[in-house]
Amino acid sequence: MTEPLLLMTPGPTRVPEQVLRAGARPMLHHRSPEFSQVLAAVMERLRPVMGTREPVLPVHTTGRGAMEAAICNLFSPRDEVAVCCNGKFGEMWADLAQLYGLVVHRIAADWNRSVDPLLVEAALVENRRIRGVLFAYCDTANGVRNDVAGIARVARARGALVLVDGVSAIGGMPFEFDDWDVDFAVTASQKCLMSGPGLAFVAVSERAWSAAASGRLPRSYWDFAEIRQHVTRPKPETPGTPPVHVICQVAEALAMIHDEGLERGFRRHEDMAALTRKRAGELGLQLQCPRLEQFSPTVTAIAVPPGVQPSTLRERLKRRGILTAAGLGIFAASGFRIGHMGNIQVADVERTMAALEAVLASPLSPLPSLRSGQAPPGEGHGKV
Ligand SMILES: Cc1ncc(COP(=O)(O)O)c(C=O)c1O
Repeated sequence: MTEPLLLMTPGPTRVPEQVLRAGARPMLHHRSPEFSQVLAAVMERLRPVMGTREPVLPVHTTGRGAMEAAICNLFSPRDEVAVCCNGKFGEMWADLAQLYGLVVHRIAADWNRSVDPLLVEAALVENRRIRGVLFAYCDTANGVRNDVAGIARVARARGALVLVDGVSAIGGMPFEFDDWDVDFAVTASQKCLMSGPGLAFVAVSERAWSAAASGRLPRSYWDFAEIRQHVTRPKPETPGTPPVHVICQVAEALAMIHDEGLERGFRRHEDMAALTRKRAGELGLQLQCPRLEQFSPTVTAIAVPPGVQPSTLRERLKRRGILTAAGLGIFAASGFRIGHMGNIQVADVERTMAALEAVLASPLSPLPSLRSGQAPPGEGHGKV
């Protein structure tokens, strides 16, 4: 059998052998006591990862689905929200909110900068009708790490709900839902939780539950109140049929995460990110957004040297057994991304950067010019 590619991608990430095996067990019926136990273990083990005493709800969808669910659970048409658009996933929040008829104020829209909480405060002072502030903790397009605690502080001071997309962050970096006063946060199975894709987890604050009670957007499949009602029973279950095997995988992955220890895991992520940035610099590469105030420990966006096509560079890395991710949105034509999250280890980063050094030392074909008006590859929300 040929060696599988080393997935240095910001999701899906490498699924450890032990987790793969947990997903290969014979079918468990989703109303059985055995499955209830697995679900209860997942919810319990996720609490410290999300930094909450609230029940963590499974939502049978991907990260984006749970973001959409948050909009229709917590808001009503014409509600006003401020969305920090300093990356593709901030923009995704804005598009989703707009689609559901919310009035969206796009703020902090420079992809090269972290969100400045003062900008959020200014938007809230200027427009007192804003009911929510939506942003990504880590935006996977540029590798920014936004200051959740700082943004939440200014938002809460003005009575706005705080909604955090933690899809490519939670599990790989500290997250304190309760202490940071966050109202909604989401993560998904396929990134730092190193399991198969198809499952999201959300935390919801008391304030957000009150908002949900008065929210007038329709919701059914992903009605948070119905999910909470089912999962908080003495024998927890889900409203419909969940992806049983993904839940089994996440239970195993969380056991591994706790065995390593959250703090140690976070340090490993920081070490991998620092090594990636250091080695990229030594190879003469620029970060895609060098002026970010804070970089995420889970993903690094790197600019390709002038005249090099990102797809060529990535293809050469692939031939050396390493899969990286394309640049996203406005960075599609100028960069690529290295994911270092979940089960990825420092040794995997070293192997990747050694391969990158070898690739850069060999001739790379020149960048063919794009015809004007032609979209670079990798556009569209479906492509992450
Ligand atoms: C920060 C962020 N938010 C949301 C999403 C969407 O998640 P999914 O692909 O699970 O729908 C992604 C996916 O890459 C992401 O990185």
